[in-house]
Amino acid sequence: MKRILLFILPILIIVAAAFTIFGIFQVRFEEEKLMDDLQRKARAVAESVELAARFAIVNNDLKIAARVVESFQGRERLQGCIIYDKDGQMLAITKRISNLQQEMRPYIKENLSSKAPRSSLEKLKDYSVYSYILPILDDENNALGFVEVIYDTSYVFTTLTELWRRLNTTLAILVVFIVITALFIQRQIFTLPVARLTDWFVHFQRGDIDKWHPIKEKGELGKLASEVEQLALGIRVARKTISEDAQFRLKKEETWTEVKLRDFVRAKLGENALFVVSNREPYIHTIDESSGASKCVRPASGVVTAIDPIMRACGGIWIAQGGGNADKKFVNTKNKLGVPPEDNRYILKRVWLTKEEEDGYYYGFSNEGLWPLCHITHTRPIFRENDWQFYKSVNEKFAESVLEELPAKNPFVFIQDYHFTLLPKMIKQKRPDATVALFWHIPWPNPEVFSICPYQEEILDGMLGADLIGFHIQYHCNNFLDTANRLLESRVDTEKFSITRVGKETFIRAFPISVDGYTNAASTIKIEQINKIKKEFELENKIIALGVDRIDYTKGILERILAVDRFLEKYPQYRGKFVFIQLAAPSRTHIKRYHDLMGEIDELIEKKNWKYLETDWKPIIYLKRHFSPEEILPFYKLADICIVSSLHDGMNLVAKEFVASKQDLNGVLILSKFTGAARELTDALPINPYSIEEFADTIKLAVEMPDEEKIKRMENMRRTISENNVYRWAADIITELTSLKKT
Ligand code: G6P
Repeated sequence: MKRILLFILPILIIVAAAFTIFGIFQVRFEEEKLMDDLQRKARAVAESVELAARFAIVNNDLKIAARVVESFQGRERLQGCIIYDKDGQMLAITKRISNLQQEMRPYIKENLSSKAPRSSLEKLKDYSVYSYILPILDDENNALGFVEVIYDTSYVFTTLTELWRRLNTTLAILVVFIVITALFIQRQIFTLPVARLTDWFVHFQRGDIDKWHPIKEKGELGKLASEVEQLALGIRVARKTISEDAQFRLKKEETWTEVKLRDFVRAKLGENALFVVSNREPYIHTIDESSGASKCVRPASGVVTAIDPIMRACGGIWIAQGGGNADKKFVNTKNKLGVPPEDNRYILKRVWLTKEEEDGYYYGFSNEGLWPLCHITHTRPIFRENDWQFYKSVNEKFAESVLEELPAKNPFVFIQDYHFTLLPKMIKQKRPDATVALFWHIPWPNPEVFSICPYQEEILDGMLGADLIGFHIQYHCNNFLDTANRLLESRVDTEKFSITRVGKETFIRAFPISVDGYTNAASTIKIEQINKIKKEFELENKIIALGVDRIDYTKGILERILAVDRFLEKYPQYRGKFVFIQLAAPSRTHIKRYHDLMGEIDELIEKKNWKYLETDWKPIIYLKRHFSPEEILPFYKLADICIVSSLHDGMNLVAKEFVASKQDLNGVLILSKFTGAARELTDALPINPYSIEEFADTIKLAVEMPDEEKIKRMENMRRTISENNVYRWAADIITELTSLKKT
């Protein structure tokens, strides 16, 4: 709009100025013409009465004089006539203008001496008149008297005003015409070609180029378009070459690495990008209220830990809620930014939610409803109708945001977790050609438990829009198949592990998620970093056990503290020698259960530390804040034991991260039986976190484990993780999807 104004405004100013100057001249000319006309008429009238007036003056016949002046009474513009004697005394005046008798009119006297006619515009009280005075002379050229003819000039001004009005109307019509013409021209020569070019670009972005080829613009824009076309062609060819190279390299490599996954995805998905959807975004921009400085943090989230390396490897678009208080400052006009911030490997698209939406969809339905429903921790799920409505509308909002990004042909959409049970169906309805996978990062309960959810049918129906639903372990797959069988009208095939509903088949598979191996990052940790922590917390010569968690009631943090206490109670020889460090990231703190839990943990740790109070030893070090992955690594490296005591957990990636970081093989993992990870990491020491006695004894076992056994167990676990890393996890899902598409 600004540009259009810049273009039209000067034209309008020039036209308006030209018109005003022309108007002024036109009005002047018209005015002169009218006045001239008036003068001519006045003179003719004066001359026509001259004879009669002379007769009246010479004979001093006032009757004749009165008759003469009264003959003008009924004329329209000619107001009247006055006859004067030679001394300037009024002999007769038309009745209509008789009030002029009282007017002071000095020019009458002045005219006595001059014997020439005189005309002038006179202002009389509240109106103006035109006066023409004709002297009446005798044969010797002496003045006998005068005849004055008075015209009303108001019609002159009315005519001129009307002229101005007409000029203004013409100007206004001209302005409108110019604006419309300019807009039309601008649309034809600029907007439309640019819009066509933009369209072409959008379709190129989406991979739908055949129909839109070639660009046909002419002139300068055509040149630009042709350059763009060359660039696009270059990119297309490069993409094709990359994907062919990728196929070739794939055949050669054995273990799954970032590079192998990249090649694999290119070979399988070709030019199409990967679209990931999750609630939690991988990079959050926050602003420190006091200093005003902004920073980018990685959230504590299993989803982020697992998916970020995949996206770094493959590129694509990750669509997630923009939850940081500075997030809006870092996105472009399409709400996108390149991430990681220091080395842009993929695109993060942020979706904005209102406070009400976040309360209802995230805190309410997802985390007070579905989260406790799926975790067996005896926390009662809360289902509110209002939360459900927000959950549905936020799923719709995300669906819109995803759909506007999808390429023209066969996109691949990978949805994460319980926040988006309705999204698969919403996407499939609009884009049946899309391949949609949903991965459930938390446990799936048995049908009895799930059946308490008031929205069970809509949730299952929404999920079954996906082509593939993944869980961490087979047990959760079985629970899901049972649930669909019992609660939904559908056909469950226990041989193919699929569910068919209204003709649509969804495959259910277990894909144990993992970490990226972490080995490279772990080797960057310097001994000085570890020593610094040891010094800060006085850990020299201590046996160090570590816990790393979000503060969540499913993580068994209270049970862990009770077990540490019991261990020290039961085996006092370790007092002063054993330290437990808990890194705890506050999480979902607006939910009462989480808020209360923080208080309970604070209180319990305080109580236990007080119980063993000694001058230079504190058994529990509690560090309650957000830790970045880089900050956590040195803690993993210095810990002798890592304790994962979840009461229920889909997988638990802390267990895998600890193992992956232990390049020196010196560490023991204590792992809850109720985690998905326990199925794979069979060389960890298993615990039932509810059995505090057994838990405490397992800590003793870990502390006293001989080095050879530690090494052997750690070697086995590291092998499992390096063979089944997150790159393989992603590749397995993509392999499954592409093979399903062929059947
Ligand atoms: C679990 C869920 C993730 C979630 C994470 C952190 O791991 O499976 O989807 O991101 O917890 O929770 P938050 O609510 O902070 O995202």
